[in-house]
Amino acid sequence: MTGAPENGGPKPTLIDLRSDTVTKPGLKMLQAMMNAEVGDDVWGDDPTVNELQDFAARMFGMEAGLFCPSGTMTNQIAIKASAVVEGHMRGGAVHTQPGDELLCADNAHIYLYEGGGIAFNSGVQPKLLPSDRGRISAAQIAAAINMEDSHFPVTRLVCLENTANKGGGAYYSLQDIREISSLCRERGLKLHLDGARVFNAFVEAGYGPAEMGPLFDSVSICLSKGLGCPVGSLLLGPRDFIRRAHRIRKVLGGGMRQAGFLAAAGLYALQHNVERLRDDHARARRLGAVLSDLPYVSHLAPVDSNIVIFSVAPGWEAKSLVERLKARGVLISTMAPGVLRLVTHLDVGDAQVDAVCGLLRWLAEEGQGQGGQGGTAGKGPGAADGPTTAENGHGAADGSTLPAKEEDVVDVEPGSGLNGGGGAAAVGDSE
Ligand SMILES: Cc1ncc(COP(=O)(O)O)c(C=O)c1O
Repeated sequence: MTGAPENGGPKPTLIDLRSDTVTKPGLKMLQAMMNAEVGDDVWGDDPTVNELQDFAARMFGMEAGLFCPSGTMTNQIAIKASAVVEGHMRGGAVHTQPGDELLCADNAHIYLYEGGGIAFNSGVQPKLLPSDRGRISAAQIAAAINMEDSHFPVTRLVCLENTANKGGGAYYSLQDIREISSLCRERGLKLHLDGARVFNAFVEAGYGPAEMGPLFDSVSICLSKGLGCPVGSLLLGPRDFIRRAHRIRKVLGGGMRQAGFLAAAGLYALQHNVERLRDDHARARRLGAVLSDLPYVSHLAPVDSNIVIFSVAPGWEAKSLVERLKARGVLISTMAPGVLRLVTHLDVGDAQVDAVCGLLRWLAEEGQGQGGQGGTAGKGPGAADGPTTAENGHGAADGSTLPAKEEDVVDVEPGSGLNGGGGAAAVGDSE
């Protein structure tokens, strides 16, 4: 693990722990992008996009891949039903038909944070299963499948999320996925993975894409989270499925022209930025270890990957903690009322984590009484005072987007907010 910059770069002014989506491409990634050979991908002749799609598909033991602008789009394309009915689309629908039902965790990204796209794009209704930090089990799925009867929607699709964002970065074991996969195959259900952070699962859980991929009918992966790309997601699956997905991408306006510049970043990331996710996890655990001893933390979720979530103890005000950190150059996000989140990533190195640890301790020493109403903003240590270079060779985000305000949040789920209820979204907590 190193806290040194990967490529050199300007000294950061802020440490942005709101999400792993805030990274900016480092010099080597930019170099790869600038050197990309490109073509018109809507015509299918961008060699770098084709290479990325093939590379990722091979990695996951799938036949084909489709490069899209976002993880939301790859998830929604996979779910996309029936508006594209068989008669309208040679080869049939993708996974569902309008009126069908999909099963997912009650705090799944596809349900909470994709703008109602399940209904909007596909006319499908989700059946939400209470989750263990975003994970659902084969037994729950088996119990939730509707019987064949015209009163009930047809249960068609199961969607898993690995790692689970709102579950605090929890991941599935390969055994659990195998059980779910066999059940789905036995019962004729399709199985989709929202793998926005699946590489974080791989480096922790002891299985890889080649073992896991074939257990699913389709997999969405994101390049713009922990892998550090500015843009991009891939949908992976059987050739026929991807051919149909290609049509839906067009309908959704996701066809991009000389997208090879972006695909080159993706290839670079898949080749260079996967193993280093372990460093993000180690840094997240360091933050967790510090938080576990602090008086303003009433519950710390297990730190399984790069996401640290804690509940703020009674007598302390979450909003004030967020503001006091911000005043000292550290951005974190609000998951739910009284529930805060820190996410480690490529633009946060060891030195920055040291600085944040110091600041988290200092908040406790300063106490709620003195600083709780934001009255001491500007006093005390600043996290960006020290050596704060990150691995990516950049400062963290420029702070132009403010962290969520607690008043914006209507999720009043008690406890950690990691399980159950789904809860309403805090602005910015979706990423
Ligand atoms: C678990 C999960 N799935 C999907 C997405 C959607 O990705 P995008 O922001 O690229 O649409 C996100 C992003 O925030 C996510 O956290």
